[in-house]
Amino acid sequence: MWETNTLVNLLGIKYPIIQAGMAGGATTPELVAAVSNAGGLGTLGAGYLSPHAIREAVREIRRLTDKPFAVNLMVTEPASADRDAIDKMQGILKRFEKDLGEPFSFENLSLDPQPFEEQLEIVLDEKVPVFSFTFGIPKPFWLEKLKANGTVIIGTATNVQEGLALERAGVNAIVAQGSEAGGHRGTFFKNAENEGIGTMALIPQMVDRVKLPVIASGGIMDGRGVVASLALGAAGVQMGTAFLTSEESGIHPVYKEAIRKARDDQTVMTKAFSGKKARGIENQYIRVMRDFEADILPYPIQNALTKPLRNAAKKHGNKEYMSLWAGQAASLSQNAPAKQIVENVVRDVERVLGILSAMHASSHLPKA
Ligand SMILES: Cc1cc2nc3c(=O)[nH]c(=O)nc-3n(C[C@H](O)[C@H](O)[C@H](O)COP(=O)(O)O)c2cc1C
Repeated sequence: MWETNTLVNLLGIKYPIIQAGMAGGATTPELVAAVSNAGGLGTLGAGYLSPHAIREAVREIRRLTDKPFAVNLMVTEPASADRDAIDKMQGILKRFEKDLGEPFSFENLSLDPQPFEEQLEIVLDEKVPVFSFTFGIPKPFWLEKLKANGTVIIGTATNVQEGLALERAGVNAIVAQGSEAGGHRGTFFKNAENEGIGTMALIPQMVDRVKLPVIASGGIMDGRGVVASLALGAAGVQMGTAFLTSEESGIHPVYKEAIRKARDDQTVMTKAFSGKKARGIENQYIRVMRDFEADILPYPIQNALTKPLRNAAKKHGNKEYMSLWAGQAASLSQNAPAKQIVENVVRDVERVLGILSAMHASSHLPKA
């Protein structure tokens, strides 16, 4: 049985299919619970949520499912930038007020990220079954506390060195995020020479070097992607974009439509929205900001500064100024309830495996 392995046993789920934690509003409690109820692992993308909001969402998820689920956080430190650089970026962003039809206010805007350790306190306090993270590794103190709490821990790596560091830190499984992936790169090794290793190349190299279960992520949308990941040695998959277009996803309808219509060549990597490399569908904002690359501030300051612009874009349903995070295989997305997406993927895995075994039976190739 393809679905029975160490990962499903570790997580207490039926299928090795994880819905990615996606900060920014996509992963509603309804989405998380629907995926978990369908036998996958739903994940709350809690990176941008206040500790209080995380507690509320976790309680809501528990009202909707009694199955395991995950909370995902970003290991983020506050950054600094000098006042002139901040003023300059605000001036650049103000150019877009005209297109959006309203002025932006930068007053009362916090440039600091949500307090990571206070967010983690909630994960501990609520005894969340699975905790996943990206952008770094939490301090040993926190990982020990989570383990003592019985929480399964999943870290994100974009190269083998990061995978080995996560293994040494004591996580239970590793998401190997290929460069096809939608959203932010999880890269945290400052000396990584290339942040863009593709899923196909990354998974087998990671599997060969780490002992932990590897979860393939990036560009996986259907049974073909799942079977390919298993063939490369992964124990399961983490899918993000595939669930953005689900009925329960909290993203703007215009964003959903952009994903459904995206072509294979329309996503790009950009720092323009957040100050950190992320993959999304190219739009006017990304194109204009190429002239201001040197002025883009570090994450999470740039992210905070573009919030008024992104909020105005949402208000007016203007996709040219929204961060349309999506993976390279966005066009394979389905507009359906999350339960159906999980069921379709599972059925498709079985279809593909059937075809592959029939190919083997009728193959003229000599046995290895
Ligand atoms: C809208 C969006 C937001 C994301 N936010 C997060 C996040 O908060 N934490 C995280 O670990 N990964 C995040 N990711 C990355 C996913 O975990 C995953 O690596 C990616 O979605 C896989 O590629 P795919 O979108 O092609 O399936 C995000 C991805 C998207 C598309």
